[in-house]
Amino acid sequence: MCGIVGYIGKPKPIAEGLEALKRLEYRGYDSAGMAAYDPKEREVMCIKAVGKIEKLEKKLKGINIKASPFLFYTRWATHGGVTEQNCHPHSDCKGNIWVAHNGIIENYQQLKEKLVGEGHKFLSETDTEVIPHLLEHAFKGDIAKAVQKVVPLLRGAFALVIIAKQDPTRLVAVRKSAPLLVGIGKREYIAASDPSAVVGMTKEVVYLDDGEMAVMSDKGYTVQDINGNHLKKKVDFIDWNIEDAQKGGYEHFMLKEIMEQPETIADTMRGRFGKEAGTAKLGGLEVVGDRLKNIERVHILAMGTAYLAGLVGEQLISEHARIPVDTDPASEFRYRKPIIEKNTAYLFISQSGETADTLAALREVKQQGGLTLGIINVVGSSVAREVEAGLYNHVGPEIGVASTKAFTSQLALLAFLAAFFANRKEKKLPEITEGLKKIPGILARMLKDTRQIQKLAQKYAKIDNMLYIGRKYQYPIALEGALKLKEISYVHAEGFSGGELKHGPIALIDERVPTVALCLSDSVYEKMMSNIQEIKARNGPIIAVATEGDKEIAKIADDVLYIPRVPEPLAPLLSVVPLQLFAYFMALLRGYDPDKPRNLAKSVTVE
Ligand code: F6R
Repeated sequence: MCGIVGYIGKPKPIAEGLEALKRLEYRGYDSAGMAAYDPKEREVMCIKAVGKIEKLEKKLKGINIKASPFLFYTRWATHGGVTEQNCHPHSDCKGNIWVAHNGIIENYQQLKEKLVGEGHKFLSETDTEVIPHLLEHAFKGDIAKAVQKVVPLLRGAFALVIIAKQDPTRLVAVRKSAPLLVGIGKREYIAASDPSAVVGMTKEVVYLDDGEMAVMSDKGYTVQDINGNHLKKKVDFIDWNIEDAQKGGYEHFMLKEIMEQPETIADTMRGRFGKEAGTAKLGGLEVVGDRLKNIERVHILAMGTAYLAGLVGEQLISEHARIPVDTDPASEFRYRKPIIEKNTAYLFISQSGETADTLAALREVKQQGGLTLGIINVVGSSVAREVEAGLYNHVGPEIGVASTKAFTSQLALLAFLAAFFANRKEKKLPEITEGLKKIPGILARMLKDTRQIQKLAQKYAKIDNMLYIGRKYQYPIALEGALKLKEISYVHAEGFSGGELKHGPIALIDERVPTVALCLSDSVYEKMMSNIQEIKARNGPIIAVATEGDKEIAKIADDVLYIPRVPEPLAPLLSVVPLQLFAYFMALLRGYDPDKPRNLAKSVTVE
């Protein structure tokens, strides 16, 4: 998982490439590099640095060349350690052809052995380096033609941007199973992994599909298939600004994204309420309206936080629309030789729309003729393009690696879906739709003062283990709270259903292991209270998330975080927020950067 940027047009200061790269840093940040063609010197300058992009920025200070074309790259290591040698761009033996790559070349070992046998000299341990060497063989003065010859030799996933010193008027970008788009400016083009890198220059983009190649020069661009046949592609318009992809005054993207949830949930809901209370209007599903009439089951597939949103959706849709729902991690589903049913709607949830496992499960279902739906945030992403119908989250770019605003938006859309399916059975869900309308205002009030959560984090900043429990709608929130804490603060945290506690996890309880108990005044309140008593009896500290007005809980719990009362199926939209903030403050207090957790990348485009 890496971020790539390629530019061609009027020669520009390389600092502009660096700015574009900075907006891709969430995709990988263990090292960064650039290769730039200096038309004055007719030479390619390549500079790399280990560490975050600032390290590369320092090295580039004082280098005032204007370059075109150029490549920039930020790495999240897959093959080979975090070293300058392993960082991209990589070149052929002659320093003529330069390649930046996101993805994995699965057959690189065989290719490398052959190339080494032929006398090619490799400088890195990466899979990528085979590409410039293969191109060196194929290059006869036209880099686009060389790419056409080499791509069929590569197995795996790749988004590539390529330049050649001996063909310096062209930039080539090619895609197979990894995100890539072309930003279209005035006689200048920028190929990048995601739109946040191009909005500084243009809002017009062409999303490349698998097997497509863009050939750009300062005179124009073409999109071709790998045999060189020209293709007609739609130009899309990015409807958000560069500021949306920046921190907006907050110290971290994660905090910004937590704080903007009142607006992002409102954006998600806009235009989706039906005329009558209890009804939903989901235009994105109209194209499959007829097929949806016969749906008897929903199967939700996703990964990580999106999967946990799916577990809430399972409760919502099955309880209120009375349709059976299954939810599985896409990674497990795909290897199960799944039986695809005609009357089932397969719903894929993905913020990035590029998660490899989710995409693979989607392709499996499609291949067997199943009806595929999506809940996706990134417009034009692979999942968005490949599902038959879907709903966009409309929450703008989510940059913090830990998903927050996408999660609450996914929950809101799943509540709409419950109403949508219920409406088809002539049932209305006014409690849900009218309740949803109030969520942004309630959340804005909740987020006004975060000091109590900050203090709580101070109290627990040094602990090693933490448990999270919840039941029914709050069970997935217990899992999500634990996931947030472990991924950014590196505290070992596990989530359980309250009912599971006695079947094993209770053995972990003692005075050093605090438990976050999601104990709202809902249909499982009494059950949760019993679980809390069991923990207290073993001296386990309790942090309760409870409903405002519940005085009983304050008598047992060590700390209580109150949230306003809303209908039970909507409470996850609120109860997750203090847990997001708790994880955020814990990460800060423990000295970690919550936006860039170790070993993680924002979009997991490999298995
Ligand atoms: C956790 C997190 C991940 C993602 C997961 C799926 O905070 O962000 O667990 O939710 O990798 O990603 P998407 O939604 O892009 O498919």
